[in-house]
Amino acid sequence: MKLSTLRIVALLLLCLAGALFVVSRVVTLTTMRWFERDLALRAQLAIAGARSSLIEHADEPARIKALFEAITHDERILAVALCDAHGDVLVASRDYPKNLHGPSLGVELGDEISHRIVDADEHQIQISAVPLATSGTATHALVVHDLSFVLRRQDVVDRFLLTLFVAFAVCGILALLIGSRLSFRAWTARLRSYVRGETKEPRFRPLLQDLRALSRSIGDQRSSAAGVPWTPARLKQLLRTELMGERLVVIANREPYMHVRSDDGTVRVLHPASGLVTALEPVMRACSGVWIAHGSGNADRESVDASDHVQVPPDKPQYTLRRLWLNAEEEKGYYYGFANEGLWPLCHIAHVRPTFRQSDFEHYRAVNRRFADAVVAEAGSDDPIVLVQDYHFALAPRMIRERLPKASIITFWHIPWPNAERMGICPWARELLDGMLGSSILGFHTRQHCNNFLESADRYLESRIDRETQGVEQGGNICLVRPYPISIEWPLRWPNEAPTPTECRRVVFERLGLPAHAKLGVGVDRLDYTKGILERFHAVERALDRYPELRGVLCFAQLSAPSRSLIGEYQDFDRRVLAEAERINARYATDAYRPILMLRAHHEQPAVLTHYRAADFCFVSSLHDGMNLVAKEFVASREDERGVLILSSFTGASKELSEALVVNPYDVERCADAIALAVSMPEDEQRARMHALRSIVAEFNVYAWAGRMLADAARLRWHERIADRLSPFPRP
Ligand code: F6P
Repeated sequence: MKLSTLRIVALLLLCLAGALFVVSRVVTLTTMRWFERDLALRAQLAIAGARSSLIEHADEPARIKALFEAITHDERILAVALCDAHGDVLVASRDYPKNLHGPSLGVELGDEISHRIVDADEHQIQISAVPLATSGTATHALVVHDLSFVLRRQDVVDRFLLTLFVAFAVCGILALLIGSRLSFRAWTARLRSYVRGETKEPRFRPLLQDLRALSRSIGDQRSSAAGVPWTPARLKQLLRTELMGERLVVIANREPYMHVRSDDGTVRVLHPASGLVTALEPVMRACSGVWIAHGSGNADRESVDASDHVQVPPDKPQYTLRRLWLNAEEEKGYYYGFANEGLWPLCHIAHVRPTFRQSDFEHYRAVNRRFADAVVAEAGSDDPIVLVQDYHFALAPRMIRERLPKASIITFWHIPWPNAERMGICPWARELLDGMLGSSILGFHTRQHCNNFLESADRYLESRIDRETQGVEQGGNICLVRPYPISIEWPLRWPNEAPTPTECRRVVFERLGLPAHAKLGVGVDRLDYTKGILERFHAVERALDRYPELRGVLCFAQLSAPSRSLIGEYQDFDRRVLAEAERINARYATDAYRPILMLRAHHEQPAVLTHYRAADFCFVSSLHDGMNLVAKEFVASREDERGVLILSSFTGASKELSEALVVNPYDVERCADAIALAVSMPEDEQRARMHALRSIVAEFNVYAWAGRMLADAARLRWHERIADRLSPFPRP
């Protein structure tokens, strides 16, 4: 039985019980009154029958007593007595109660018969005073009746009423259940015919409005599938119409703009080397809102207002950057420690052992709480749209949900998710999973990562996995787990007019001192052991070994931004990369030629794009990578449809970019073949492949990524609102 029906049944029972109580009280009081009057009348009759004897033997107490004993043979008369005008008992039958005489008699001794009810030991009695109208001392006869038979009769009546109540209750409940079912059917039939437009019923109008909005939103999704391109304008429109212009609040550890003081004392704005920033920044420019990030630049504090806000991009502000300050210890524990020595190696299969320290996790938890607090402070409503970014904030979704239960929380995990067994290495696996399930939507780059997450949730948490909807239900909250492959803005944005590929080639070749006949490969990465930089160098070396015609021709420029340099593993890796480059160069370098050009520095975006455009091929050899946006940026930068992409099969990007030369970075021989193939690929083939790659990146650009997530969030919001309004009706 549903809750609402239970409530009606309870109400019905309550009403019936109330009615029973009132009826039983009325019946009791009325019958009591009848019985009292009846007994007083009987007393009068009994005394009237004995009146002449009483007058005649007024002076013979023994005769009167005998007469009274005869009267008490009536089963309901307990005792009889005579009293004077003051109530003093003159003569009485044997069982007359001793305490009923004089002032304690309590009945009026007048010319009319009077009576009262007295509580005796275990029962009630009625004493009636009947006037004798004689001239003797005795003025009244007192007749005492036993009332227990009255109570017995009332008992019978009460039991009858109770039976009636039960019968009424059973019939009432049955009638109610049958009636409500029939009327619900009739109601839904009317509703359906109204929705189909067959009838007109004004009371259903608000519901129809909701349904129209929902179908508009679904229509919007369909049109997306139909190939309408995703642009910043379309994303903005989606936010305005489907999400009512709600404010976007993003939390991401890395800030998109960093104020850094140079040695000469001037403050420069840097754009950190980060796939996350590359993807998210254009989305924020399109949608506005606030991006909460760790303020890590050494001049960051100087450029914020009193609320730690700075409007960005600095040259044309379009959204707010809110900086959150971390002290050295917090940064060490949360960022370097738990996030990058624990979770990073845990999630990437790159053969580096994760390190988990209790104190790091405590910092991680505390910093997540600080970011969650900042979200609440910046939200501006109780149901904002919050985008939680990456593995730095696994605990934040739950913390935000606790404070803002109605928020739409979209969490995106930018790195791979390990299989359930590997996840078990982390001592806080359960807490992390639970934290992430505070989200409304949880996104990964690939379906494989989603499946790994679902399996982990299944293994380590009390939760229900719905494979059909790809959702996890835990403690009443449903979190959808979906793949949303991330991408880049399309078309790429150059700060000034973009130089042509020929111009780029000229500039880069000149800067690197390359001869015109050189074949240039590029790699662009943070100096991170997951990126397969050593494997890439080994492939170059092997290509030079096996294809002698490439010696003096093949040059590989590696643009590497130092990264996470406080971590020992990264310091070692940095040293090994430099050492390998030197070793290989020592084998093949000449006075005029070096096969590997190690450009170890932070490169701003225009410099990176210029190298992409100048290159004959780009080599992405990650050992494991959530997506890898270098691959997509290279493709986007090649408007000339030239150049070849060599792409590791262990990147998320390889699932989409199948026209690349997809390689296993551990297979040095095949990688060397791929390099040889790339530098000798005919222009027609390059063009055909690049054309196909570009059309994929153009269609599935970063606005599509954000748009799909926001559209799903809008659909969830509608579903929840409609479900709230339709709560009395069964869910589909
Ligand atoms: O891939 C995970 C990620 O957060 C990327 O989004 C980004 O490219 C990179 O790591 C940046 O790392 P960090 O912020 O530690 O420099």
